[in-house]
Amino acid sequence: MDRATTQIYKGNIVIVDDNPNNLRLLTNLLKKSGYKVRPVSTGKLAISTTKANPPDLILLDINMPGMDGYEVCQNLKNDPISSEIPVIFISALNESLSRIRSFEVGGVDYITKPFEFNEVLVRVSTHIQLYRFQKKLQEVNSLQSQALIEKNEQLQQVNNNLEHLNQLLNVKVAELQQTQLQLVQSEKMSVLGQLVSGIAHEINNPLGFLHGNLEHGQEYLQQLQQHLQLYQNELKNPSTAIQDHAEEIDIDYLLEDFPKLFASLNRGVERLYQISDSLRIFSRQDSKTKIDFDIHKGIESTLTILKHRLKRDKESNNIQIVKEYGDIPLIKCYPGQLNQVFMNILVNAIDALEADKNQEKKQIAIATEIVDYSEPEMGQFVRIRICDNGTGIPEQIREQIFDYLFTTKEVGKGTGLGLSLSKQIIEEKHGGNISCHSEVGKGTEFIISLLLEPAT
Ligand SMILES: Nc1ncnc2c1ncn2[C@@H]1O[C@H](COP(=O)(O)OP(=O)(O)OP(=O)(O)O)[C@@H](O)[C@H]1O
Ligand SMILES: [Mg+2]
Repeated sequence: MDRATTQIYKGNIVIVDDNPNNLRLLTNLLKKSGYKVRPVSTGKLAISTTKANPPDLILLDINMPGMDGYEVCQNLKNDPISSEIPVIFISALNESLSRIRSFEVGGVDYITKPFEFNEVLVRVSTHIQLYRFQKKLQEVNSLQSQALIEKNEQLQQVNNNLEHLNQLLNVKVAELQQTQLQLVQSEKMSVLGQLVSGIAHEINNPLGFLHGNLEHGQEYLQQLQQHLQLYQNELKNPSTAIQDHAEEIDIDYLLEDFPKLFASLNRGVERLYQISDSLRIFSRQDSKTKIDFDIHKGIESTLTILKHRLKRDKESNNIQIVKEYGDIPLIKCYPGQLNQVFMNILVNAIDALEADKNQEKKQIAIATEIVDYSEPEMGQFVRIRICDNGTGIPEQIREQIFDYLFTTKEVGKGTGLGLSLSKQIIEEKHGGNISCHSEVGKGTEFIISLLLEPAT
């Protein structure tokens, strides 16, 4: 045996031929060329040795007793273990038709008998190399696709993390906005509340002594009147000085008018008490739990605070308030917060009426009623409608009016907080609902619905 050729291992080949001469011939040739060879004489043996230890190439005779070459090839191609191994068919020169069939069943090449040795070696070596390249390529491919899959998974993971972070960030931003909104508003309202309750407190003292002194004044007046009467009865002929003075001051009119003047002063004091009461109701600080509240009182106290904005320079320009109050029981709520909502909506309505130069009969209608839910088991709710006949809201911004910081008013006039806070108060704090209907040139209506929780 040639030492040089035996040292080089070039590949592992299974040779299948029922003809012992052919088998020997090919085996010797290939062994000499450095291949490791397994010669077998039947199709069955070929299949078992191939599957037990897959070679790099199979040389397969076509005509064999029992299983022929095509059958063997088909069997090998159907099994993933052996499907890729190149099969070179051995055929006789005159078997041209069978060569076509040999490609059909999955052969890669054929060699013809009698053998041309060099041709056999070239074909064998070419197909083994091709097979190895193909395997390498598959390995590289699978490695690369594995790496790609891993990278993709990593990217997906990074992406998921980013998305998660983004969501967290959005939640945090929303929370911050809410907190900021609450801070700004509660600051605004607490300043206003302090101011208002301060004023209510301050005017209560002078009101107290006005009220007290008025009572005394009336009493003194009556006594003076009685005393004067006595004089007039006793002194039938008063001096000219007294008569002149009585004429000068028109004493009869004075005596008649004095009680009316007191009645008017009393009404004034009464009105001041009402105002002070409204201021106190408006500026009440909410406790942590809901309390029973008369929403009409809330609306009235808000209107009192806004009175100066309803009266215009000309009587005809006044904003008329039309009320249609239903018979509403006390409801459980945070009164200070509800008053804020009434305030925000009423101020917006007044702003819209002031901005409307075409509207001559400026009006705000306020209606309250109890409404049944469509599903009887849900009970009833209170509906408050505040409707103005001002400018109306253009369709393209109607969706945005409840948005945080959305305003169409000039800097210094509006901050865009009023409605977003009102929505938060009604929907989040009270589980109710607030909506708006508007038409440009006709006006705007806000509808607040609050679940009726009857007072306990
Ligand atoms: N009754 C209304 N008529 C016409 N437009 C209105 C009315 N109410 C609200 N709007 C519109 O909705 C916007 C948002 O109102 P919102 O009360 O939230 O903010 P604002 O009044 O502009 O400012 P802020 O209330 O914070 O002082 C207003 O700028 C205005 O364009
Ligand atoms: Mg506003």
